[in-house]
Amino acid sequence: MYTSLVVAAAAALLSSSAQAQTINVTSTPATGFINYTTVTGYFLQDNPTTNASTFDYTATNFGLINRTYDATSGVNTTLTQWQKFALQVEWLNNNAPLNTVYKVIWFGRHGEGYHNAAETFYGTPAWNCYWAELNGNATANWADADLTPNGINQALVAHNFWAQEIAIQKIPFPQSYYTSPLTRCLRTANLTFSGLNLPAYYPFVPTVRELFREGISLHTCDRRSNRTYIRNRFPTYNIDASLTEYDQLWNGVTAETSAAQDARSRIALDSVFSDDDHTYISVTSHSGEIGSILRVLGHQPFSLSTGAVIPVLVRAQFVPTGLPYSMPAYTVSTHCAAPPVTSIGSLAQGCVCSGTAVGGITSRIDTIASDYPSGAGFQASTAPTATTSSSGSRASSGGASASASAAAPSTSTNRASSGSPSPSASASISLSTSTGSLASVSGSVSSSRAATTSPSTTTPPTSSGSCATICSPTNFQTWGPGGWGPGFWGERPGGW
Ligand SMILES: *[C@@H]1O[C@H](CO)[C@@H](O)[C@H](O)[C@H]1NC(C)=O
Ligand SMILES: *[C@@H]1O[C@H](CO)[C@@H](O)[C@H](O)[C@H]1NC(C)=O
Ligand SMILES: *[C@@H]1O[C@H](CO)[C@@H](O)[C@H](O)[C@H]1NC(C)=O
Ligand SMILES: *[C@@H]1O[C@H](CO)[C@@H](O)[C@H](O)[C@H]1NC(C)=O
Ligand SMILES: *[C@@H]1O[C@H](CO)[C@@H](O)[C@H](O)[C@H]1NC(C)=O
Ligand SMILES: *[C@@H]1O[C@H](CO)[C@@H](O)[C@H](O)[C@H]1NC(C)=O
Ligand SMILES: *[C@@H]1O[C@H](CO)[C@@H](O)[C@H](O)[C@H]1NC(C)=O
Ligand SMILES: *[C@@H]1O[C@H](CO)[C@@H](O)[C@H](O)[C@H]1NC(C)=O
Repeated sequence: MYTSLVVAAAAALLSSSAQAQTINVTSTPATGFINYTTVTGYFLQDNPTTNASTFDYTATNFGLINRTYDATSGVNTTLTQWQKFALQVEWLNNNAPLNTVYKVIWFGRHGEGYHNAAETFYGTPAWNCYWAELNGNATANWADADLTPNGINQALVAHNFWAQEIAIQKIPFPQSYYTSPLTRCLRTANLTFSGLNLPAYYPFVPTVRELFREGISLHTCDRRSNRTYIRNRFPTYNIDASLTEYDQLWNGVTAETSAAQDARSRIALDSVFSDDDHTYISVTSHSGEIGSILRVLGHQPFSLSTGAVIPVLVRAQFVPTGLPYSMPAYTVSTHCAAPPVTSIGSLAQGCVCSGTAVGGITSRIDTIASDYPSGAGFQASTAPTATTSSSGSRASSGGASASASAAAPSTSTNRASSGSPSPSASASISLSTSTGSLASVSGSVSSSRAATTSPSTTTPPTSSGSCATICSPTNFQTWGPGGWGPGFWGERPGGW
């Protein structure tokens, strides 16, 4: 009996039929949240005895532990470890309460970029306190850094490893791909997944999602390029409708704290877990951002070298009480106008500068490109007005964006066959990024998976030149629990 069940499941798996897995929200998200946990015991990376600094994902089957599973115990099969693991994940989902889903997410760090090479070249103190605030030096550009030749090779290592895993391990195919909008990730994803033997129904068409970007610091490598550039260079990618033409988050003066980044990472995860019913997901992102996501997922710290990949088995449960989001302050920190004497982590602002301004400055020292409007971060007039009202059918709309519909098709919905989840949502979470609310939680009831987005209620200032030098709460806007609004203030110790 049990065996035939497993065999049937295996057959279904091998024919690659998709499972639909989304959260069943039975309460208003205005007071609920998604509780994420890392399910340990499946991957070496979540074992406290594994040393991240020497770990090689390509030598360890992505870290998948050789073990037996409840779903396959006693079954005589010749399935590979990854095939058996897939049966176990399916079993977990099939036996989960309706408010709980399991997903497997591969988080890939981009290959080495020019900013990584420059940090090594200058040393971290000088990098953080001076060079990182510039667009580049005489011979290298690191604003929205591209991959170095070494970084390209690292992405090709990932490509070759995926090819091997597909051919030999019959690893489950990623069913959805997401990438940070920064060039080094857009390129890494392309090099990693282009040309693999992927099924037609799960093509490599990554969704470019703003909130999977790197932690937003003063460094120019954290400033993304404009939307037009992304579309022209990666024409087949699916760019979220909410991705504005110009970067509205980076301004070279204020930076995310770790707490603010974690809150943002949670929104990014929520958008995937409430909007995408696929089980196997690839996210191409950054060291700092993946570190933040791992914190949100309750995973142990596990730092990735450039180009490395970490899979995580995530359990997500909708909890109907508790306030999900608060968006902590962005903060200002100092840097130097010239290469620093040193930086000291224990100092409040980190940098010890030469010359008169020993304590550092807060004004930008990068050359602001002519195609990058001054006061970057506040381009209301050029931002797309789309409010990402539709996100139900990721496959067809493509523009799922940061709009998260905490909707509730049951786990019986089959993405592959129906393509369109059942209209059973009981509530929506609105996470529009288009100059409107980035993180407003809406308790409105929706009868479909379409998100009810809040249109912009606060208009970012169109003139903010002074903000590029010294921001004050009245001229600086950032995103908070209520959407765009006056910036928050505090001190950001040190740089990074
Ligand atoms: C979140 O999930 C974990 C694991 O199931 C559980 O231990 C914890 O109590 C949950 N937290 C809340 C607030 O429900
Ligand atoms: C991890 O490996 C690095 C490099 O070999 C070593 O320096 C470090 O002490 C190791 N950490 C632990 C906890 O074993
Ligand atoms: C699992 O076993 C295979 C050989 O049976 C081995 O090649 C592989 O490295 C093992 N994986 C881990 C994570 O130990
Ligand atoms: C598993 O099945 C194969 C053939 O189906 C058989 O040759 C083999 O002995 C079986 N292995 C075990 C451990 O039962
Ligand atoms: C610029 O930085 C790169 C590291 O990204 C370094 O290799 C190069 O030598 C630097 N150029 C100059 C002129 O210092
Ligand atoms: C990805 O890279 C390949 C070359 O490896 C290129 O031909 C292709 O156009 C790129 N695709 C996208 C969407 O950028
Ligand atoms: C977008 O960025 C590219 C590359 O930096 C630049 O050439 C182009 O002029 C920019 N487009 C707009 C609309 O600003
Ligand atoms: C959602 O879960 C609740 C409680 O488990 C259940 O009563 C309800 O029928 C579920 N709704 C759907 C659409 O599956």
